[in-house]
Amino acid sequence: MLNFEFYNPVHVVFGKETVAQLPVLLPRNTRIMLLYGGGSIKKNGSYDQTIKALQGFDFIEYGGVEPNPRYLTCMRAVEVVRKSNIGFILAVGGGSVVDAAKFIAAAALYREGDPWHILQNTGTSPLKDALPLGCIITLPATGSEMNCSAVISRQATHEKLHFADPKVFPRFSIIDPQFTYTLPERQTANGIIDSMVHVIEQYITYDVNTPLQDRMAEGIIKTLIEIGPYVMDNPSDYDARANIFWCSSMALNGMLSCGVIQDWTTHKLGHELTARYNLDHARTLAIILPAVLRYERRNKAEKILQYGREIWGIDDENLEDAIDEAIYRTEEFFHSLKVPTRLADYKIDPMEAAVAIRQRFETRETILGENADIDALAAYEIIRSC
Ligand code: NZQ
Ligand code: ZN
Repeated sequence: MLNFEFYNPVHVVFGKETVAQLPVLLPRNTRIMLLYGGGSIKKNGSYDQTIKALQGFDFIEYGGVEPNPRYLTCMRAVEVVRKSNIGFILAVGGGSVVDAAKFIAAAALYREGDPWHILQNTGTSPLKDALPLGCIITLPATGSEMNCSAVISRQATHEKLHFADPKVFPRFSIIDPQFTYTLPERQTANGIIDSMVHVIEQYITYDVNTPLQDRMAEGIIKTLIEIGPYVMDNPSDYDARANIFWCSSMALNGMLSCGVIQDWTTHKLGHELTARYNLDHARTLAIILPAVLRYERRNKAEKILQYGREIWGIDDENLEDAIDEAIYRTEEFFHSLKVPTRLADYKIDPMEAAVAIRQRFETRETILGENADIDALAAYEIIRSC
């Protein structure tokens, strides 16, 4: 097992009617920005409950955060935060709203130049400070409610970049699965796939003797596979919605990555596809993950076989066949959620995408993969095969 540090200070309040606890979680004597997206919160009940719980607090509302939140939208919010003397950001919505809140919280106190640098300098320039934030999350997918990461897009340059800093951990996250009853099928499926791929990118690499982390990863994947199709057909089943939500929070809250080898190639390539073609985040993952597993089938063989055995019950003596079967079953699962796994399904030319991403990786000298073997050419080959 590798050395690791584990730190997760998020106060999770999970269950029915938990927005009522907002008044004890929020700070008094400071002005709050209630941040939200395109209006879904007004249909799923979270807005009304939040407004009720905010009685007696000093707050302003700021809506309009789009899916794959945009830098310019966030920077407009930063201006309001500064002008209105906001001291706390309360995000209500999906992962995009929570991510935007994290970036706004960081950018509002960033004095070292253009806040876009926060996203370009991951790992090299820890934030000096950030405003405190909390969230009421309405979509199980990103794990943003329990981590300190955010992903922000810049349309003009087709960029979608990520940053992570402990200063933007939510102080609290309220998760009431009842808010997810209104999710369109497409978003429910996206959330199941995003969560599953988060687990896989912390699991299908190479073994460093971490059986507990492996069992936890397999437990989350199995639960998603068992309940995912059920929840698609039974969108108002509370326990199913609750179990899916807890899977997605656990998938990316730092627990699974303790001491293991990780590989975020699928996510990094997926962000390039979203930035260029505006595909939903999870839909890019469903396209790229199978291609990455096929490309890396030698290096990842042991873990793909373990995944196939533990998750899909594959015990073919021919190891090549067993690997093929594990990848095939993964794709079939995505298809069962009505999520396609080829670029052509979105009328995107794989060659065009592959060339564009190769150029970008060359310019940035990007190297990915647990063996640092995914360079510009490898990225090109992977995307071409999608
Ligand atoms: O904008 P509104 O009107 O709120 O509608 C949203 C949006 O259209 C709607 N929605 C949210 N909750 C709903 C609902 N509709 C009905 N009922 C509800 N309860 O769903 C649409 C998608 O919302 P969005 O927040 O964009 O989805 P998601 O939670 O999947 O977030 C995606 C973003 O998170 C990033 C992705 O890259 C993408 O930008 N990620 C963030 C991560 C993190 N912070 O750790 C990790 C992930 O890998 C991911 O990269
Ligand atoms: Zn993701």
